[in-house]
Amino acid sequence: KAEQRAELLEINKQAAQYYYYQLRTEGGKIGYQYLSGRGLSEETMRKFGLGYSDKFGGGLYTFLKSKGYSDERLRESGLFNVDERHGMYDKFWNRVIFPIMDVNNRVIGFGGRVMGDGKPKYLNSPETKIFDKSRNLYGLNIARTTRKKYLILCEGYMDVISMHQAGFTNAVASLGTALTSGHASLLKRYTQEVLLLYDSDEAGIRAALRGIPILRDAGVSSRVVNLKPYKDPDEFIKNMGAEAFEERLGQASDSFMFRVSIAESEFPMDEPQGQNRFFERCAELLLELKDELERNLYIEAIVKKYRGQYGVSAEDLRKRVNTL
Ligand code: UTP
Ligand code: MN
Ligand code: MN
Ligand code: MN
Ligand code: MN
Repeated sequence: KAEQRAELLEINKQAAQYYYYQLRTEGGKIGYQYLSGRGLSEETMRKFGLGYSDKFGGGLYTFLKSKGYSDERLRESGLFNVDERHGMYDKFWNRVIFPIMDVNNRVIGFGGRVMGDGKPKYLNSPETKIFDKSRNLYGLNIARTTRKKYLILCEGYMDVISMHQAGFTNAVASLGTALTSGHASLLKRYTQEVLLLYDSDEAGIRAALRGIPILRDAGVSSRVVNLKPYKDPDEFIKNMGAEAFEERLGQASDSFMFRVSIAESEFPMDEPQGQNRFFERCAELLLELKDELERNLYIEAIVKKYRGQYGVSAEDLRKRVNTL
């Protein structure tokens, strides 16, 4: 068992070296140009071990066979597809490659992006004996060593890499999956606070809303950063630069108040009926807060924010919470 794991780690390491080397060959130029075109420096590509898989789909298999690995082990690595007609062939081809490291800098899997608009945009290694997506975060191997009082959690490989290149080396991403309690407890080992920088689309907002209670249950407090009008951290930084980005980080919303303002946007607030349902929702959110002082602070914050518009008082809200 331990030997099997060790061998899978070795295979992933060899594969990472193979892809890394391919990026620097004549055939890999297209990959190198794609990454440069997205603004990544040579140093950044090296730091993240970025690579390239060519369009022939057999190179990695041939390379690893020459190192003597068995087909069985190669299959377990998740780096190959198997079918009757073609036998075993590389899972990743014609993509730029992002090796995924665990906190001990061991390669445990890969993501691969098409160099353009093809589908699927990203392919990822499946879960294997050494790759548990719900217990690893992309970039944490580097982010864990930075002395910042919070970690930044975002959606994508390119977001993490762009932020690191811009000096925000405390950024990590979940690996194409929703945030899990496994991620939250992993984060908890390195920080008390997380800034959520999910994409500013509907899916990203939903992901932030789902993530907040998961983090809180693990004892990690969170705040939410608004990147609008840009879609994600990568695009924000590319368009606005590091200083403007830093400023947005400083304006992060309290995650409870973020949930409140999302709720506000979901009701017809120009009618008493909508207002009433909104404050009902506020009461439900407040009920989640078990600590009385904390609950009172948020009652005050909601009242402060909405009293002017809707004439709501702390007493109204407190009563509403108590009737739930
Ligand atoms: P996004 O669709 O937001 O892509 O997916 P992105 O990170 O902004 O990618 P670029 O900037 O176009 O290159 C966010 C993350 O979700 C996972 C990947 O981990 C991606 O980084 N994902 C996305 C997949 O696993 N598969 C996909 O087809 C798309
Ligand atoms: Mn899992
Ligand atoms: Mn997205
Ligand atoms: Mn994105
Ligand atoms: Mn993006």
